[in-house]
Amino acid sequence: MPRGRFISFEGIDGAGKSTQHAWMVDHLRRQGRVVVATREPGGTPLGEKLRALLLAEPMHLETEALLMFAARREHVALVIEPALARGEWVVCDRFVDASFAYQGGGRGLDWSKLETLANWVLGDLQPDLTLIFDAPVAIAQQRLHAATSQPDRFEQEQSEFFERVRAAYLRIAQENSARVRLIDATQSPNDINKVLETIIATL
Ligand code: TYD
Repeated sequence: MPRGRFISFEGIDGAGKSTQHAWMVDHLRRQGRVVVATREPGGTPLGEKLRALLLAEPMHLETEALLMFAARREHVALVIEPALARGEWVVCDRFVDASFAYQGGGRGLDWSKLETLANWVLGDLQPDLTLIFDAPVAIAQQRLHAATSQPDRFEQEQSEFFERVRAAYLRIAQENSARVRLIDATQSPNDINKVLETIIATL
């Protein structure tokens, strides 16, 4: 059985990544692929409980990083690895890059501590393709406020926080050009669909 493909979706809150994630899942299913649509933090029963805590409870920044990676450990072991081994496509709304961007860039946690956790939890598992949806913070904030009446603990952060998260994502895109594609998220959803269709055809 050939191994499946693993695609992750990233970007600052409000960039429009979740809409495109849903589109990609439909697109791949229309092509006859077996797709596991999942998300982080979350994706397992325990992971979803950790998600609820992470999005609501104030906590030390290292606790936040450790809980993100605890949820990820469970997700990799119970969902992602088994699906890839069955030859299925895993389409994940956020993965490890979000920890580098939010806990590293946004909160200022040591990049090297995150690398230690990533080595521990992922081994050599990496997405085959990561799509980073990039938009200026002001645009993302506008979209977020239009779409969300009850912002979670991350969505309540100030623009400066999201500027740091965005800068970290841009750095990740630059340093991992074989795996990561940066998508201009200021385009219309239709135009973004076309870009994604072209990218996915090469995977
Ligand atoms: P998000 O995909 O934005 O959920 P929703 O679209 O339902 O609001 O993810 C929730 C938040 O979790 C998001 O603000 C980013 C944050 N996050 C981290 O800080 N680190 C991580 O490793 C992950 C996976 C997410």
